[in-house]
Amino acid sequence: MGAAMDHFSLRDGVLHAEDVPLPRIAREVGTPVYVYSRATLERHARVFREALSELGTDEEGPLIAFAVKANPNLAVLKVLQRQGFGADVVSGGELRRALAAGMPPEKIVFSGVGKTRAELELGLAEGIGQFNVESREEGHELAELAAARGIEVQACLRVNPDVDAKTHAKISTGKAENKFGVPLMRAQETFAELAALDGLNLRGVAIHIGSQLADLEPLETAFGKIGKLVADLRAAGHAVTHVDLGGGLGVPYRKGDTLPSPADYGAMVAHATGDWDVKLTFEPGRVIAGNAGVLLTRVVRVKRGGNGPPFVIVDAAMNDLARPALYGAWHDFEAVEPSGERMTANIVGPICETGDTFATDRECDALVSGDLAVFRTAGAYGATMASSYNSRGFVAEVLVDGDRFAVVADRIDAGAIMDAERVPEWLG
Ligand code: LLP
Repeated sequence: MGAAMDHFSLRDGVLHAEDVPLPRIAREVGTPVYVYSRATLERHARVFREALSELGTDEEGPLIAFAVKANPNLAVLKVLQRQGFGADVVSGGELRRALAAGMPPEKIVFSGVGKTRAELELGLAEGIGQFNVESREEGHELAELAAARGIEVQACLRVNPDVDAKTHAKISTGKAENKFGVPLMRAQETFAELAALDGLNLRGVAIHIGSQLADLEPLETAFGKIGKLVADLRAAGHAVTHVDLGGGLGVPYRKGDTLPSPADYGAMVAHATGDWDVKLTFEPGRVIAGNAGVLLTRVVRVKRGGNGPPFVIVDAAMNDLARPALYGAWHDFEAVEPSGERMTANIVGPICETGDTFATDRECDALVSGDLAVFRTAGAYGATMASSYNSRGFVAEVLVDGDRFAVVADRIDAGAIMDAERVPEWLG
C-alpha cells in the first residue's frame, strides 16, 4: 500500500490530497498540519477486508477492529466505522472515542497490559464485545467486577508466544521478555484457572507480536503456536470459539520498499488458521492509516551547515511527529511544488535538542525559506503521539474528501494549554 495506493499526487506540479491542492490547506489552516485522505482510508479498509474475505465461520466473517492508537481522530474513526470496522482500544479515552464515533460496543475489543479498575468498569458498563486479558491477576479482577454486576463478560487470554517479530525493539511485543500477555508455557494453566471463574466467559486467545512487520514469517510462526494451543485447550475440554490475531502488518515508508501486501497476509492467515473453526478478530492500525496521511510543513529557513550539508529547518518538530526521534524512523520528505532541482540536507525542526532531526544527509527536493513540504506516511502514530514540548501546542488535523476538506482537529495553541495551569495563591 505504497505511493501507488494513496491519493497524494502531483497535479500540474503541485502536490494534492485527492482534489485539494495542499497550498490551499496551508493557507487556510496554517502549518504544520496533518492532512488525511478519506478515499485512501476507505481503499485501505476495503483492501484489508477483501484480503480476509475467505475467512470466518459465520456469514459476517472476521471482526476487523481498527487499532485506535494508530489514529484516534474522531473523523478518521467515523470513516472506518462506516466501513464496518470495529475498534481495538487500550484505554478509557480510546474507548470513549470509539463509542463517540458510533462504533457498536459489540465491535469493541479492549486490549492493554495495564487496564485500571476504572477502565475495566467502563468497558463493562458500556457492554463492549471483548476484553483481551493480559494476566491471571487482571482476569480475576475482571471476573469479580462482572460477577458483582451479575453479568458474564466475554474475554480472550492474551498469550505471549515468544517470537521475534524482527522489528524495532521498541515496538516488538511478542518476545518472552516483553511485558505483554501470559507466557505460552503458562497459558494452559492460566486459561483453566480463569475459565472456571464466575462472571468470565473465557472463549479464546489473543496475540499481537509487534508492529511494522516487514516479514510474514514471524507471524506465521506465532499463529502456528496459537493453533497448537487452541488444539491443546480443546483437548483439555475447553470451548475455544474466538481467536484475536492482533495487528502488525507493516507499510512502505520509503519509495521502493516492498512489503507483504494485505493479500499476502490474508493468504498466509487462511493457510495458518484453515482448520481452527473459530471467529477471528484482527487489529490493524498502521496498514489502514499510515499512508492515508501526510504532515504538511513550511520551511522556516535554510541554514548553512558546519562541515556537513545545509539544515532545512521546518516548522514541524519532534513534538508533532515523534517517530524519527523515537525510533530513528524514516519518513519520505517531498516538496509540495518541486522545482526539479535536488539537494542534500539535514531536515530538522525548531526544538532545542539535536534529537529534533527528521533526516540526516537526505537527498530531497531543493527547498528555500517559505516553501511547503510534506512528511509522508504520517497518518498512523503521527498526531496521536504529539506533545506540547517547547510549548508548541498541538498540531491541527484536516480530512480531505474529493474537492472539499474539513478541519477535524483544531490547533491547540500554547495559550490554551497554559489556561489549564494555575499558580497557587501562596506563590503570590
Ligand atoms: N493490537 C495491539 C494489541 C497493539 O499493541 C497494536 C500496536 C496494534 C494492534 C496495532 O498494530 P499495527 O497494525 O499498527 O502495527 N508507536 C509505534 C507503534 C506502536 C504499536 C503498538 N501496538 C510507531 O510509531 O511505530
